[in-house]
Amino acid sequence: MSKILITSALPYVNGVPHLGHMVGCLLPSDVYARFHRMLGNEVLYICGTDEHGTPSEVGAAKEGMDIGEYCTKYHNRHRQAYKDFNLSFDFFGRTSSRENQEMTYHIFEQLDKNGFIEEKTIKQIFSVDDNRFLPDRYVTGTCPHCGYDKARGDQCENCTKVLEPTDLINPRSTISGSTNLEVRETKHLFLKLPQLEQKLAAWVKTKEPFWPDIAYSIAQKWLKEGLQERCITRDLKWGFPVNKAGFEDKVFYVWFDAPIGYIGITRQWEAENPADRNWKDWWLDAKDVRYVEFMGKDNVPFHSISFPATLLGTGEAWTMVDYLKGMSYLTYEGGKFSKSEKRGIFAEDAVTEFPADYWRYWLMSNAPEGSDTSFGFDLFASVINKDLNGVLGNFVSRVLKMTASKLGETVPAGGEWTSMENDLAANLQKHVDDYIKYMDELEFRKAMNELRAIWVEGNNYITAAEPWTVIKTDEARASCILRTCINLIRLFAVMSAPIMPQTSENMLQRLGLSLKNMPSLSGFDVKSQLQAVVAGTPFSVGELLFERITPEKVEELKQKYGSNS
Ligand code: 2FM
Ligand code: ZN
Repeated sequence: MSKILITSALPYVNGVPHLGHMVGCLLPSDVYARFHRMLGNEVLYICGTDEHGTPSEVGAAKEGMDIGEYCTKYHNRHRQAYKDFNLSFDFFGRTSSRENQEMTYHIFEQLDKNGFIEEKTIKQIFSVDDNRFLPDRYVTGTCPHCGYDKARGDQCENCTKVLEPTDLINPRSTISGSTNLEVRETKHLFLKLPQLEQKLAAWVKTKEPFWPDIAYSIAQKWLKEGLQERCITRDLKWGFPVNKAGFEDKVFYVWFDAPIGYIGITRQWEAENPADRNWKDWWLDAKDVRYVEFMGKDNVPFHSISFPATLLGTGEAWTMVDYLKGMSYLTYEGGKFSKSEKRGIFAEDAVTEFPADYWRYWLMSNAPEGSDTSFGFDLFASVINKDLNGVLGNFVSRVLKMTASKLGETVPAGGEWTSMENDLAANLQKHVDDYIKYMDELEFRKAMNELRAIWVEGNNYITAAEPWTVIKTDEARASCILRTCINLIRLFAVMSAPIMPQTSENMLQRLGLSLKNMPSLSGFDVKSQLQAVVAGTPFSVGELLFERITPEKVEELKQKYGSNS
């Protein structure tokens, strides 16, 4: 049994997650966690909300709320949305927790003690009317390169040029719109990344054979360009106050304490049940742990450069990422999801339209692994109708209905396996092995193709074996075919479980079974598993597994959630 530590990037607490967030890290990490639990491995799967930073301050001010209460309100909304999507976190915590504060302080002290922290005075924009320093992206103005009048102080969204806020023409505060801005000097702490570069580069190099291209190439690009010192403090009120004399009025930068949050949240997990849990078993000197991180591609630099450098700089034996699964983006009909513009479907609305498994299946089948992919309701309906309703759902109803009506509601006895069943088992074994291999390699779209191929094998088998014809002349043979088909339902349920846990339970319940007592995926032998449900076992036919999505429903959804088509 191996120990697998899995983290999903911690979503910003402000705002609510949409399908792009779901498939960008949360859902694939859940599928991977479920898969490893089914292999019999010991899994610790951690996530939580990323709560510090200016967007939380601005969000709370907009809603006229105390910032702590605001974060709790949105933390709970995230928590509910993920529960509705059946994400199986071992713990869903918060970066603002006391445990994370302790972790952040400890790591900072170690870096400081080892000489990797430097004080510098920098110039920053101060908004007199807002009475606060403005982070670069909270200064808006006209881009000096392309003339775009809503360019942000860190980058122009229109021409993508990187900017300094002082480059902007007619700069104004994004928060209040005030143009009463001054450049003021302020003292900050910097992480000396150049001093850690060599050690970091050597560590990254060891990942070349293992990391996917998207992650390795981003890390190499940063290293090639040479690392700059990185400011890890901010002039804000909301955040962990810096634990160093002379800096008590500043807080740590959100990106400093957010990844430390993976450890801090594991400490929250331990605090919930200290007798049985030990965070250090996963994070310190934990040589038996394999650590896999999931994130959108924009987060890769933080997870392949700044966070590992931070951990290396402590000189302590922290668990460092073994595999970094960076995902591209899911767009909504090629554009952005936007709650305020009512464009695109958000997680909390999605589950009011269809059960979570519909979304989980579609999202994993279309996961933006290589390049960006786009969500649209036409495509969604066609995949659900074809794969889930047509192939999987239809097989389950057909088999159970036919058996019940012709032979009664217990698994029929009689007949022996023929070459047909042996061929079926052999073909399925290849797909099952490949499915498990691709899941293990985190090649989700390839794994999904194999899952579909597994269902299709079952459909091909019943079509070729024709139990509805055979039963007229040879009941024993028809019984053997239908018994095998009922076993196929069990096998489909096991294989589909990481992707569609509720559907899998539903399929198994019809056979009086449950996921809890299913065999491990490790060494899964199709031939014996196809004979596990024995003659005489009672079953129930049940309802249709999936509803067909009609063109009228698609139109209704497009109206409700916005569409160009
Ligand atoms: O992009 C985001 O949503 C960030 N809040 C991810 C942080 S990941 C980790 F470092 F906490
Ligand atoms: Zn521009």
